[in-house]
Amino acid sequence: MEVRLVIFDLDGVVVNTDEFHFMAWEQVLLNKWGICHTRGAEDLTKGIPRYTCMELLAKHYHIAATPQELHRTADEKNTVYQELLRTILSQQQIMPGIMETLQLLQEHNIPIALASSSHSAAFILEKLGLNFDFCVDPDSVTHGKPAPDIYLAAASHFGLPPEACVGVEDAASGIASIRAAGMFCVGIGMPALEGGADATVSSTDQLPGVFASLLGLPPFLNWFTGFSVALTFPSSLTTQTTTRRLSHMAGFFRDQATVKELLEQGIDPIIYEFHELAAPKHPGDVSFGLTTLYPGNIGEECFMTKGHFHQILETGEVYYTLQGSGLLLTEHTDGTVRWFPLVPGSATYAAKGFAHRMVNTGDKPLICFFAYRADAGHDYNTIGLSGLQKRVFRRGNRIEIESANVRAKGEIQ
Ligand code: F6R
Ligand code: MN
Repeated sequence: MEVRLVIFDLDGVVVNTDEFHFMAWEQVLLNKWGICHTRGAEDLTKGIPRYTCMELLAKHYHIAATPQELHRTADEKNTVYQELLRTILSQQQIMPGIMETLQLLQEHNIPIALASSSHSAAFILEKLGLNFDFCVDPDSVTHGKPAPDIYLAAASHFGLPPEACVGVEDAASGIASIRAAGMFCVGIGMPALEGGADATVSSTDQLPGVFASLLGLPPFLNWFTGFSVALTFPSSLTTQTTTRRLSHMAGFFRDQATVKELLEQGIDPIIYEFHELAAPKHPGDVSFGLTTLYPGNIGEECFMTKGHFHQILETGEVYYTLQGSGLLLTEHTDGTVRWFPLVPGSATYAAKGFAHRMVNTGDKPLICFFAYRADAGHDYNTIGLSGLQKRVFRRGNRIEIESANVRAKGEIQ
């Protein structure tokens, strides 16, 4: 979709006012009825108008009071809440990831609007120095959330159809409101999962990642709190791509006459490409990505990757085959050779201490996902100089695995 407007809920999305609501209820319940308010009871009140909250709390704490008295107490709670906003609200209450999200949208000239039912919204935004392009006045809409009115009012202010808008919410009624408006819904937390949001995150600090992906930007990779990323191939979303052509690995194939002939004729096919996220080179991080090894052969020898040991020899690596067919040739420093079929749906473990090389034995691109410790490093020289013990050839319809020295008597492999 082309995102042309992003509409945010306020409480629990842009600003964390939960603690202020809790403190306000705590104060009036204690003053009035000597009740010690609990977090569990507070949970009953989330995202609910204050008079309804008061009724729920009266029931929960067995408060005997007239409707008028409850009404008055709810207003008192609101006075305390307003006072807390005036005195202690600060930028510390801005939810994590929100500043980065707003900045990302502003950099891409996407207007931001606020659709909050709170009458304190304008005050809060001003106090926090947050500039939204438009705030819907909650009194200007007939039906509150979960009706779609407030989100539709924001879209119509900009003259935009709902399909061009994204709404961001944490509460069930807000998620229902966005969905009823026919907008793309980004939801935070359990209500989003339950309410069928289009994209769900567990915390607002994941919002920059969601919007980066919606805007087609490189992924926002948070190696400290985690991330989820679309990993498709070919992919514009990955950050490091390596392309290896025949000329980059000319010495790796046995049929040197053919290699020379091809390169002299200017024929330099792409043998494989891999896309890897730029993981920090830290022992606890995991580097992962996709390799596509194209079908073909040089002379009779199947296309293959260079292959390598890891500099940290004690590194295992997982390959998961998504498409195509081939082999993973592995070889231990002690000379042990093991090879494994690479077929879609299979996970292959290249054990620690084994060099590994993919070989495409089929007629389609062989695509594998791989993952290994991010600081492992790559040693290409050992294999580059002495090769692996096995080579793979296509002869007619047959695939043959040969010991490297069977045919090439005396040649350096
Ligand atoms: C990483 C790994 C794979 C390969 C990739 C290309 O440790 O095993 O990601 O790097 O398949 O192969 P090489 O690195 O051998 O050129
Ligand atoms: Mn590896």
